[in-house]
Amino acid sequence: MPVIFHPKDRSFHLYNDQISYVFTVLKNGQLGQLYYGKRIADRSSFEHMLVMRSCVMGPCTYRDDPNFTLEGIKQEYPAYGTGDFRDPAYQLRLADGSRITNFVYVSHSIQKGKPTLKGLPATYGGEEEVTTLAIRLQDEKIGCEMEISYHIFENLPVITRDVRFENHGQQPVMLERALSAAMDFYDADFEMVQLDGAWSRERHVHTRRLQSGIQNISSARGASGHFHNPFLALKRCSATENSGEVYGFSLVYSGNFLAQAEVDVYDVTRVMLGIHPFEFEWKLQTGDSFQTPEAVLVYSDQGLNGMSHAFHDLFREHLMRGVWKNRTRPILLNNWEATYFDFTEESILNIAKKAKELGVELFVLDDGWFGQRNDDKSSLGDWNVNTQKIPSGIEGLCSKINELGLDFGLWFEPEMVNEISELYKAHPEWVIGVPGRDHSYGRNQYVLDFANPEVVDHIYHAMKNVLGKANIRYVKWDMNRNITEAYSTTLPADRQKEFFHRYILGVYDLYDRLTTDFPQILFESCASGGGRFDPGLLYYAPQGWTSDDTDAVERLAIQYGTSLVYPLISMGSHVSASPNHQTSRQTPLKMRADVAYFGTFGYELDVTRMEDEEAQAVKKQITYFKEHRDVIQYGDFYRLEDGSRGLYSWMAVSKDRKKAVMAYYKVMAVPNTSLKKIRAAGLDPDLCYHCEENGLTLGGDELMNFGMLCEIEAAGSGGCGTDQGDFTSHLFTLNAK
Ligand code: DGJ
Repeated sequence: MPVIFHPKDRSFHLYNDQISYVFTVLKNGQLGQLYYGKRIADRSSFEHMLVMRSCVMGPCTYRDDPNFTLEGIKQEYPAYGTGDFRDPAYQLRLADGSRITNFVYVSHSIQKGKPTLKGLPATYGGEEEVTTLAIRLQDEKIGCEMEISYHIFENLPVITRDVRFENHGQQPVMLERALSAAMDFYDADFEMVQLDGAWSRERHVHTRRLQSGIQNISSARGASGHFHNPFLALKRCSATENSGEVYGFSLVYSGNFLAQAEVDVYDVTRVMLGIHPFEFEWKLQTGDSFQTPEAVLVYSDQGLNGMSHAFHDLFREHLMRGVWKNRTRPILLNNWEATYFDFTEESILNIAKKAKELGVELFVLDDGWFGQRNDDKSSLGDWNVNTQKIPSGIEGLCSKINELGLDFGLWFEPEMVNEISELYKAHPEWVIGVPGRDHSYGRNQYVLDFANPEVVDHIYHAMKNVLGKANIRYVKWDMNRNITEAYSTTLPADRQKEFFHRYILGVYDLYDRLTTDFPQILFESCASGGGRFDPGLLYYAPQGWTSDDTDAVERLAIQYGTSLVYPLISMGSHVSASPNHQTSRQTPLKMRADVAYFGTFGYELDVTRMEDEEAQAVKKQITYFKEHRDVIQYGDFYRLEDGSRGLYSWMAVSKDRKKAVMAYYKVMAVPNTSLKKIRAAGLDPDLCYHCEENGLTLGGDELMNFGMLCEIEAAGSGGCGTDQGDFTSHLFTLNAK
């Protein structure tokens, strides 16, 4: 069993070949953190690891033990108000208004496998793959219990954690804060890595040296958001992409979140993550329970790439589900940037026909097919086909597209309603907002109150009605504005702060019902691009639209950052027109495809308007991707160059290390520049690889140590070579001999 309990010092050791996680029951009955990192040998007691610092002038728990002060002990799930003045992991407000609790160890259980989290997405694994340790703690005075669960995966450097609160007492209690995990580190010698951005420039990597005090990222928008991702990593300052220690933290949740690192005056770093306590409260009546979302903890001693591999493998194998879990993703063509709202059945069929000729596998009809929707001002909520635009209806159009030899997919924005719609006319009270106060607009639409099960039910039936009638194989689930004036008319006053969490539970409920009813449908999540790209949604929708920004150059930074946590098979990436619609930048078709290959791959342009030469190039791109998508979507992804030398580079290596696709991208031409070579990673040093593009056969050892020379020509050097000018890219397709 990878979980050992040592009765002597009441310590727990969770371990596998790669990691160890050790904690203990402290003398006050609470849990103390001892060690988390690279695998260490088990021993009969870990008592010696319990370092207690007497905080001079600090409060101590026992009159006769000045060393036992919660300010100086590393804890597993800290509380506020009894000696520790840092931000706590949880807080309850009791019937008398007090907030002091004392949850102490009662018992524990160890079981193979991993129970599901009711109503919430979570990682999963069979009895041979994961072991669960559940610790029960109780506050006897109020009859409340807490179960902190740890799950260790057999073959991954991963532990996941979650907490359940139960009220078995006589009085109701208010849960004011319930984070999913906390981790106290001995020191602060770290950099914090985070992914931030905005619409059209999501998930850029930012790194900052940890400083004394609190540093955090969060969302209070009702969605995980474009602005920060529910992820942070602590990396040793010397750690690189391929070496050094990195601790990654990710939250399997799509709503408001907080991820923070607090460095105290003794240089202890406390990392915590979970539902954002701001705008959160949950009333627990007698018999009620509250389940937190799951936090994922990854340890890597092989740098950021090592951390990413653990996240990617976990999410691919133990988070994504259903028939699409291990299926390569269809190459799709989406009509959004080709037509926007301006299409007819005929123009759609023309695009689909041409797409089929080029090798596309799935046609996706985006926004504008329903109600009276010819712009973004009306009809959200009215999920009935607009027969003026599509006389054959969705069923008829779908059959025609199927007859062309393509699968068919459809766009929805289930959580929204326009004021100009039948749904709003019938149910204005279904919109989120405080009665009698103004409602803010966003893209001319309101957010439906998904905290109200009746609303979720209505949308479920409306969508089921469309999906059940036609042979739909893909759904793009969009979400284009955040929540303002948070309030549900269906909740009593003392439960209004439950709203945001209940909203996201409603979203999960709808996803759950639709994915159960339509297991063959591939769901792609979207929120104005990457505004809700998080592990919570990957559980239901195994791919997400990475960004509305389809510009090849912008996508380098976006996909680079996204890959820190999310596997390539989950990253929607399309070739779009040049000049690009978001940046007006002109880039060659080759570079656009070379970037989009590293994801699910597809097109988002009007293929009927292409010159023949361009169409032939697209055909070749599609053929290339079909041949190599296995390596890209199932292999290990290595980031090689982060753009700081004027180059981006990355590669995907098959799990058996026999095939690889390596790419580099030069953004701006530099005159008279230095020679550059890129060192590969993840290859077998004992194998030789033949490169399809340059005909060379090179050793894996050479490629990883000497590297591959980049064919960069200096601008102004007389026009030799093919790599002149801005925005160029190269692929190296490597096959072991
Ligand atoms: C925002 C999405 O990100 C786009 O791809 C597109 O689907 C539009 N919404 C449609 O309104």
